[in-house]
Amino acid sequence: MKKNTLKNILITGGAGFIGSHVVRQFVNKYSNYRVLNLDALTYAGNLENLKEIEQAPNYSFVKGDIADADFVNDLFSQNHFDGVIHLAAESHVDRSITDPVSFVRTNVLGTVNLLNASLQVAKDNPDFLFYHISTDEVYGSLGKEGLFTEKTAYDPNSPYSASKASSDHFVRAYGETYGLPYVISNCSNNYGPNQFPEKLIPLFINNIIQNKALPVYGDGNYTRDWLFVKDHAEAIDLIFHKGKKGETYNVGGFNEWKNIDLTKLLCRLMDKKLNRQEGASEKLITFVKDRPGHDLRYAIDATKINQELGWKPSVTFEEGLENTIDWYFENQEWLDHVTSGDYLEYYKKQYQA
Ligand code: NAD
Ligand code: DAU
Repeated sequence: MKKNTLKNILITGGAGFIGSHVVRQFVNKYSNYRVLNLDALTYAGNLENLKEIEQAPNYSFVKGDIADADFVNDLFSQNHFDGVIHLAAESHVDRSITDPVSFVRTNVLGTVNLLNASLQVAKDNPDFLFYHISTDEVYGSLGKEGLFTEKTAYDPNSPYSASKASSDHFVRAYGETYGLPYVISNCSNNYGPNQFPEKLIPLFINNIIQNKALPVYGDGNYTRDWLFVKDHAEAIDLIFHKGKKGETYNVGGFNEWKNIDLTKLLCRLMDKKLNRQEGASEKLITFVKDRPGHDLRYAIDATKINQELGWKPSVTFEEGLENTIDWYFENQEWLDHVTSGDYLEYYKKQYQA
């Protein structure tokens, strides 16, 4: 895609964790782009994530729901988008277990609404691109060996991953059936600043600060591949501009950790930061009831994006974790805001605490 032909970019879910990093990256780096951020501001969306760029002349925000077809169609008829980067989603596996329908609504119906609206724009714009951000969870669970490649068959196990798999299939189907130019990436677990403290790393950082139990599901021997969010945003930038239309790219950190080992590393780093005695935070580890259908292991083979687009992660896990911990310490107010109100209810229900 030619850089200077791209003018109007729609980023959905730009007030969320990964979306806010992508919005900042695009607004700061491409002053010739107009970036419109569409977000419903659910519990996971937070305009405080975007303070740094909210006054930028090439940035604007619109609150809206991608599952509302009339709203989406109106938005597309008022703006001639040259590209869509679609991140809006219900993203948390545990919530999908208690409320799967919301995941179908946003992740499946919302994506199809965006695809329908995109078809209209793409008819008059040969450079149009629909970029769908997805997850490695669509591939299901690995055993102790092996890696997910772009050719791994889909085998989702949670309502969340089933909804994301469905949305991926719809994107491909719109490419095959209607010729919509698209690209998809499937990424492993992200961590970093601005992540809502329902996900493992920020939840445990917050609990350690507060001397609260660290609820490790099952025996803790589940494995995830962790990637620093800014490296994901770089990958998204690269794929949007240089990715081949109709292709999928896997993005991962080559950085596998068992949950229990990661938790212990986090405890050690936090003890140092808080000047606590070595081993103090580890005492907070509590093994709790397992997540139903818990996938044993995810691990990404990111060879394709590395060889074809030259991308690789830029920070080590320790650097990324230190940076993340520092961010939460420096943004206690952000943490206080997002852990009040509904969060307390959610926490009580999820952890019986
Ligand atoms: P998040 O939950 O932090 O943010 C999601 C954003 O989408 C929020 O700002 C929310 O307000 C918005 N949103 C939700 N429903 C909406 C609707 N109906 N209409 C408009 N906006 C809506 O999620 P995240 O972790 O930043 O993930 C972003 C994307 O990346 C998702 O598509 C997710 O599946 C994918 N992904 C996430 C990870 C990860 O580790 N977090 C890894 C791989 C892929
Ligand atoms: O792999 C990419 C996916 O990573 C994304 O698509 C999802 O949007 C994102 O939420 C994430 O899913 P996970 O389920 O892997 O992330 P989570 O942080 O919820 O959990 C990470 C691991 O830690 C998982 O094995 C479950 C475990 N866990 C999680 C929580 C919240 C615990 O042991 N205790 C907890 O309290």
